[in-house]
Amino acid sequence: MDIRNKRCLVTGAGRGLGKQMAMDLLRNGASVHACDISLAALEGLKTDARDLPVMFHACDIADEAAVKAMFAKISGDGGLDVLVNNAGITRDGLLLKVKDGDVKTMPLQDFKAVIDVNLVGVFLCAREAAALMAKGNGGVIINISSISRAGNFGQTNYSAAKAGVDAMTVTWSKELAKYKIRCAAIAPGYINTEMVAAIKPEALEKITAQIPLHRLGEMCEISRTVLFIIENDFVNGKTLEIDGGLRI
Ligand code: CAA
Repeated sequence: MDIRNKRCLVTGAGRGLGKQMAMDLLRNGASVHACDISLAALEGLKTDARDLPVMFHACDIADEAAVKAMFAKISGDGGLDVLVNNAGITRDGLLLKVKDGDVKTMPLQDFKAVIDVNLVGVFLCAREAAALMAKGNGGVIINISSISRAGNFGQTNYSAAKAGVDAMTVTWSKELAKYKIRCAAIAPGYINTEMVAAIKPEALEKITAQIPLHRLGEMCEISRTVLFIIENDFVNGKTLEIDGGLRI
């Protein structure tokens, strides 16, 4: 698919990977619907995008009614060619921590919060996007998974959600092909984002030492993969691993 003049939705576009992807899509001639939890979260993108064709949406992707309302606006604006299902949160913590006889466990609300955004939100956006794309000329759905989908220390909730994202990617690649919709995913490793910067320094040091390239990935290295998936019409049903060679 030629990126130029395509209508793209990027969730979690206010910062980090989502903002980078939105900007790179705009620089490559696409128009972008940028979504984040609030309009205030999108201020930085607004500044960077200047006069480029971007529409801003405040939407909690875990809220079905809010997602439907956003897609009604996108439909009213003409339709959608590309969804980048990027929005995600972390609530890292151990399932169980016993220290000096004191037992601490992962709160259910931390488990559910991550599942709601990272799994349910991805489902809701993909479902509405697919319905819109099927009415048009098809399209591409790109889910942002993670290296953590294999099961990562301190990420019971996030790993479970990202493994589910991979499974949904395969399922949708099979179900949606007949509507000319491709679906693929990207599994980033540890990337230079605020999310990774929030990891305790001693934990991050250990992780970086295990990356064969001995550095974090850059956001543009993930964003470039988004462009590649859009442009290569034979990519479908696969998760591309961009992680510097790290295995967790
Ligand atoms: N492998 C093995 N052991 C580990 C470990 C690892 N990866 N990480 C920590 N440990 C050990 C610690 O050394 C420590 O051992 P001792 O009890 O013997 O001292 C024990 O596990 C407990 O660790 P902490 O002291 O760090 O426990 P904590 O409760 O203070 O913090 C934690 C737990 C929040 C999970 C913290 O370890 C952490 O932040 N880890 C990093 C989690 C991570 O990788 N998050 C990725 C965020 S970025 C992202 O998600 C994007 C993406 O797609 C990759």
